[in-house]
Amino acid sequence: MRIRNHPIIEFRERKKIPFFFNKKKVFGEEGDTIASALHAVGVKKLSTSLRYNSPRGFFCGIGKCSSCLMRVDGVPNVRTCIAPLREGVYVEMQDKLADLPDAVFVGDPKKKIETDLLVVGAGPAGMCAAIEGAKHGVRVLVVDENQFVGGQLIKQTHKFFGSKQEKAGTRGIVIAKELEEELRELEKKGGVRVMTDSTVIGYYEGDKKHRFGVVERRRDYSSVLYEVDCDSVIIACGAMENMLLFPGNDLPGVYGAGAVQTLMNVYGVKPGKRVLMVGAGNVGLIVSYQLLQAGVEVDRVVEAAPVIGGYHVHAAKLCRCGVPIQTSRSIKEVYGKEWVEGAVVVDLDEEWQPIPGSEEKVVCDTVCLAVGLTPAIRLLSQIGVETEFIPEAGGYVALHDDSMQTTVKGVYVAGDSSGIEEASTAMIEGKIAGLSAAMLLGHKRRENQKLLEQYHKELDKLRGGPFGEKPRAAKNKISVLMGKRR
Ligand SMILES: Cc1cc2nc3c(=O)[nH]c(=O)nc-3n(C[C@H](O)[C@H](O)[C@H](O)COP(=O)(O)OP(=O)(O)OC[C@H]3O[C@@H](n4cnc5c(N)ncnc54)[C@H](O)[C@@H]3O)c2cc1C
Ligand code: FES
Repeated sequence: MRIRNHPIIEFRERKKIPFFFNKKKVFGEEGDTIASALHAVGVKKLSTSLRYNSPRGFFCGIGKCSSCLMRVDGVPNVRTCIAPLREGVYVEMQDKLADLPDAVFVGDPKKKIETDLLVVGAGPAGMCAAIEGAKHGVRVLVVDENQFVGGQLIKQTHKFFGSKQEKAGTRGIVIAKELEEELRELEKKGGVRVMTDSTVIGYYEGDKKHRFGVVERRRDYSSVLYEVDCDSVIIACGAMENMLLFPGNDLPGVYGAGAVQTLMNVYGVKPGKRVLMVGAGNVGLIVSYQLLQAGVEVDRVVEAAPVIGGYHVHAAKLCRCGVPIQTSRSIKEVYGKEWVEGAVVVDLDEEWQPIPGSEEKVVCDTVCLAVGLTPAIRLLSQIGVETEFIPEAGGYVALHDDSMQTTVKGVYVAGDSSGIEEASTAMIEGKIAGLSAAMLLGHKRRENQKLLEQYHKELDKLRGGPFGEKPRAAKNKISVLMGKRR
């Protein structure tokens, strides 16, 4: 299942890491997560459904859905898709409700951190926000629950469109490296502190400042709790992949497109041998092409809408490789005993209803869902920020003004958490939020105002054209609703 030959990424054999799965010794590679190491040795079933007694695998691959929870070295409910693999760990399936940990950890007293600006999430939005804030003299703490910074960029091997300022023509993985270098340079100078493997778990009443709980995961899978007090916060938690309802949608082998991209392009592991892709938006088209690059067969792409939603340049590449893209077609069910053995697709009528008799069997071991994203706003809701359902933004989003400030003073939002778009716009929104937070904290110089105007112009330019229609509509609605709150 390991990818060794890839046209863009060099996947050299890394140091072997022995560990135990259900008492059996297996080997992963240095840099793996527990789930990627298991997948590489052919283990797709990670748990059993408590209710239906059916096998379960992982779905999102980025720590957002809880379908990969396992017991690791006696610690229950570990999200194995983001937990780094350590030598000799004991991984077990958790086929019952999680019980208390076997392991006894020496309790650390709660630690405290005080900072001017907390940035939650180190994807393109969070990294740009942190860089901008630190450049303008603000003390910044960036927290990300992944072991790497970069968010979704670390798996995007394709070159970006958009403007020169937002690195058009550069691959996502390269942009992630460049932003990390800039961030680490500022960290060396003391303006920024970066905490990875750490999750912001909640918002608490502070005296005068905003107070957050942060859990840092240690090498032995135990955790340290921090109390973080800050004057301002930027929430850049990204988005969650959408699921579709159909029989068999919880079988191991039904994955979100982002999970498949992570497995292949970050950990060098193939998701399976033959894939059915559901959804012909940009994500579905791009990930299909990346599957081919990794040496995985793509049977076809089915799309419920009558037209292809993504850029035609991506669709054309797939067609040239002989992958059919079938519109007005969707998935009806997935079958298999322990994991996916095949799927049934069906034609849809003008009302998007299945047409009886048009069913067709597709032999595949992987079904990949690329059917949209939902903004991650749980933390924002808990803070008490006002939210609204805006379909064009992908679901409920936090209301915010032009400076990305929400209805709670000092609480900003940026990137996919503020409405689903793409990495280029996430980067500028991050810059706007970072600079605006710095200005609120007293760094109000005339040139900062000018810089802010320039960022807004860049954002408008990126949202121009037919593909910007949806985000433009979303942001207009948000702006009107925000105006009414004032
Ligand atoms: C499969 C897929 C393919 C895509 N392809 C493209 C493409 O081709 N071109 C393009 O422009 N865009 C693409 N996108 C969209 C693009 O990746 C996103 O728009 C962009 O990454 C959004 O940036 P962000 O910083 O808002 O969020 P993300 O990049 O998702 O970063 C959010 C970060 O927040 C962290 N986080 C979340 N919650 C917490 C918490 N509570 N505590 C600590 N950390 C937390 C996460 O670990 C993550 O690192 C794709 C997205 C997906 C899912
Ligand atoms: S949380 Fe691990 S697969 Fe979703």
